[in-house]
Amino acid sequence: MTKKVLCIIGTRPEAIKMAPVIKALLAEEDIQCRVLATAQHRDMLDQVLGLFGITPDLDLDIMRPDQSLTALTARLLSGLDSVLQSEKPDVVLAQGDTTTVMSAALACFYLRIPFGHIEAGLRTGDLYNPFPEEANRVIVSKLARWHFAPTQGAVDNLFREGVPAADISMTGNTVIDALLMTAAQTLPLDIDLDSSKRLVLVTSHRRENFGEPFQGICQALKTLAQRNPDIQILYPVHPNPNIKDVAYAFLGQTPNIILCGPLDYASFIAAMKRAYLIISDSGGVQEEAPALGKPVLVLREETERPEAVDMGVMKLVGVNRDTIIEQAQRLLEDTDAYRTMARGVSPFGDGKAAERIVGVLRQYFQQCG
Ligand code: UD1
Ligand code: UDP
Repeated sequence: MTKKVLCIIGTRPEAIKMAPVIKALLAEEDIQCRVLATAQHRDMLDQVLGLFGITPDLDLDIMRPDQSLTALTARLLSGLDSVLQSEKPDVVLAQGDTTTVMSAALACFYLRIPFGHIEAGLRTGDLYNPFPEEANRVIVSKLARWHFAPTQGAVDNLFREGVPAADISMTGNTVIDALLMTAAQTLPLDIDLDSSKRLVLVTSHRRENFGEPFQGICQALKTLAQRNPDIQILYPVHPNPNIKDVAYAFLGQTPNIILCGPLDYASFIAAMKRAYLIISDSGGVQEEAPALGKPVLVLREETERPEAVDMGVMKLVGVNRDTIIEQAQRLLEDTDAYRTMARGVSPFGDGKAAERIVGVLRQYFQQCG
């Protein structure tokens, strides 16, 4: 009998990391794959869905400008409840640590629908860092039926919290599937870059950095650009007004800094490939940059992706202005230090994560009969 799997996606990174799973589910004969966009993000979500050719079957159109976490959660829970009741999926899948994922897990729990968590087991151990994502992950791990962990470290975190071994599968991270699928195609980069300059690619959007920390990040970027006329900084700015307004005010007038809107995923991969150095507080970029052999300086005090730090290809630099400048300057000046970090390693996956996740579900459905 055909089983129904509902894939729930809300933000840009969820769409990127769910795309390979959705494609794999659509290829299954005995599974009906339905896609629900909560649209916690609107334009950034649509950008990814367009690139991967995914049209959601259902769309809650949740996003509001400068949304608060509480109002967002309330809208999500109420919207998800009615859709889940009418769709009656056999299984729900969601990826990551956003408010969409936490709300989806909770709504499924209330309706006793088995929930599969993709990218399970990431932890910093500090509920406020990253905020609110660490709390979202901890909540989801209490509620999920399947935990698809990307690495052995993530598996160990789940064991430590008492998740039964039989409910955990180490699959790798689906971001590497998405990266390989996309990077195999011709990549556009429709931005007029100066080929005589080294490219420094930047992204930053974390809620815990809003205000003073983000101003410090901007000051560091400005100083780096002024001190190093041989670099060009490309910064696709997140549309959250707490980020966008500050980034344009601080960096808009610096000649060797290019600010632009979010790049579509293929263009962003092209920019990563072209980059000499990446500076970011993004989760996904921490996973992709090492796979592309690009050193990444992480604008956070803690990371839930320690594997790349342990391998020496990623460094936590926090949000202190002087530390960011010092660490970036070192990589710009010291070729040996740079080379040590610019090794193509992929601690987060091998491109077959989606296949493994679908395999686990196939087996479950066979057992259910
Ligand atoms: C969200 C996730 C974060 C994830 C990030 C990926 C939560 C609480 N946060 O953070 O974990 O790392 O997405 O990018 O789940 N906006 C737009 N257009 C868009 C998207 C956002 O204008 O397409 C603006 C809106 O004003 C919106 C605001 O950004 O209210 C914040 O969006 P939200 O999803 O709440 O937070 P993010 O910072 O994007
Ligand atoms: N990304 C993109 N365009 C951009 C910036 C990032 O497509 O302009 C991709 C990036 O390659 C990664 C994902 O978006 O796969 C990360 O999303 P984000 O940083 O918004 O969220 P996080 O991973 O921190 O949750």
